[in-house]
Amino acid sequence: MKKLYIETLGCQMNKSDSERIAGILSDFGYVETTVEKEADLLIINTCSIRQLSADKAYSKLGVWGKWKKTRPELKIGICGCVAQQDKEKVRQRAPYVDLVFGTHNIYELPSLIKRIEEDEKVCSITTKPIVCNQNDFKIIRKDSVNAWIPIIEGCNNFCTYCVVPFTRGRERSRAPEEIIQEAKNIIKDGFKEITLLGQNVDSYGKDTNSPDITLANLLRELNKLDGEFRIRFVTSYPSDITDDLIDAVDECDKVCKYFHIPMQSGNSRILSEMNRRYTKEEYYTIVSKIRNRFANVAITSDFIAGFPGETEEEFIDTLKAIDELELDYSNTAAYSPRVFTKAGKMTDKFLSEEVKYERLERLNEKNREASLKSNEKFVGRILNVLVESKTIKDGKVVLNSRADNNKIVHFEDSSKNVGDFVNIKITKAQTWCLFGNPVD
Ligand code: SAH
Ligand code: SF4
Ligand code: F3S
Repeated sequence: MKKLYIETLGCQMNKSDSERIAGILSDFGYVETTVEKEADLLIINTCSIRQLSADKAYSKLGVWGKWKKTRPELKIGICGCVAQQDKEKVRQRAPYVDLVFGTHNIYELPSLIKRIEEDEKVCSITTKPIVCNQNDFKIIRKDSVNAWIPIIEGCNNFCTYCVVPFTRGRERSRAPEEIIQEAKNIIKDGFKEITLLGQNVDSYGKDTNSPDITLANLLRELNKLDGEFRIRFVTSYPSDITDDLIDAVDECDKVCKYFHIPMQSGNSRILSEMNRRYTKEEYYTIVSKIRNRFANVAITSDFIAGFPGETEEEFIDTLKAIDELELDYSNTAAYSPRVFTKAGKMTDKFLSEEVKYERLERLNEKNREASLKSNEKFVGRILNVLVESKTIKDGKVVLNSRADNNKIVHFEDSSKNVGDFVNIKITKAQTWCLFGNPVD
């Protein structure tokens, strides 16, 4: 038995990929360990969204490279978005790496692994994905309650700041039958939540030339499956949220009333500079449509502070948008220049690190305020939650759960277990979580 350690950086797509990598390698005798030092094969699944994430990958490789000096039999692999982006250059920076494979090459692992076991140095990065039925491969899922299903990979949007179209390639939707089969397996295995993943999950089907293959119709099909479970989907591109998708979310009792719709900036000039295909006003319209339809909905977003050329007034429009739209939570980041991207070449418009980080600080403060305000809104209301874990605090069992609208809810009830759905009356709100008591 050989031991495998995978470190995963980046988004849920990467986490899902790692579960698939672990599954494939288990067929070759690799058992996952959480102890890096005892592994025979170390793999880092990397993220390139910001320079900081890419740097993390290389600093980890540096540490592992030192270990290999005293343990030459140790195998080191790197995959994910940094590998796809840097290709052969990975080896120039880290010559001791045994295996480099791209985001399109996961399903090629059965042959790659044999080659590195024969002491070959392998680098497999293609721009075309390996065509296969993913259900033919084992998956070792990390969580016992939630299971991820990637339904569309890649991105055609080319936002000027973003590296993802270069690291994940063009949009490719999986066949609905393949996704439904994976969902059936998941439900049979006892999972209670399915999260459909895509860089632009609401673009699902567009590349198939079949007008009936849409996220809305996929939700309708999944909703028909028997069993007690719920369905989420992330991440939605604002202008791809169709009325039909909103209708489907409304019609389907198993689909969570939660939308993650990154706005990126509250200013239309910056949105256009970012090559986002909507204006501030159009984003406002989408949010109000969703809010008018669902009582307890949560809408979350992502924002970038300090995009090249962003003025103070334009930045303030972002703070205003968070207030005016009553956004429930936002992921935030300071703009980081990326290789291959258009904005990365706007060097004359780059803002100083001081300005970017000062704006990020104000953005984070606004986000904290917005999150608390949003949480306070739910005090007195009843939310349906799914228990994700149990902890003991001051001798009492505390259940950590997630509401349908993605809010984190803590409550005490020794009769409830991980995987249970419970109705909770919210009694207290803090910035990042809610507290409450079970009700019938
Ligand atoms: N497909 C999603 C986002 C995927 S990337 C969408 O269209 O919204 C996740 C987030 O990282 C983005 O929403 C963006 O806010 C942030 N991000 C991407 N590139 C960035 C960069 N160069 N600098 C800072 N943040 C970035
Ligand atoms: Fe990046 Fe834009 Fe594609 Fe999102 S939609 S992954 S931000 S290019
Ligand atoms: Fe990062 Fe790649 Fe995801 S760049 S955010 S791991 S798609």
